[in-house]
Amino acid sequence: MYSEKVMEHFHAPRNQGSIPDADAVGQVGNPVCGDVMKLYLKIDNGKIKDIKFETLGCGAAIATSSMLTEMAKGKTIEEALKIEKLDIAKELGGLPAPKLHCSILAHDALAAAIKNYKENNK
Ligand code: FES
Repeated sequence: MYSEKVMEHFHAPRNQGSIPDADAVGQVGNPVCGDVMKLYLKIDNGKIKDIKFETLGCGAAIATSSMLTEMAKGKTIEEALKIEKLDIAKELGGLPAPKLHCSILAHDALAAAIKNYKENNK
């Protein structure tokens, strides 16, 4: 049901954990499935220098969180905001239709973290 890439990110997630001195944090949850994602960002000169996630949820939520961190790391905030809702699923070689919302949740976690960064740096 899952692509090899999804299974690989699920079994060996990249950038899992927290950043105690993060410049921004974003947390989102899906009330239907109950999964929760928290993203931590370290920003340097407008670029995402470090990014970590803590996700309580399904295998696809872990895999999309992991893939998202790889896609966003090193990007400027503006570039990271161009990652679209289903780009993460695409990058993972696809997700079954009932799991596409896991990709959307990861996207929304990044958007929430960037919003938090902008609020902190007005
Ligand atoms: Fe809801 Fe995966 S089942 S985020």
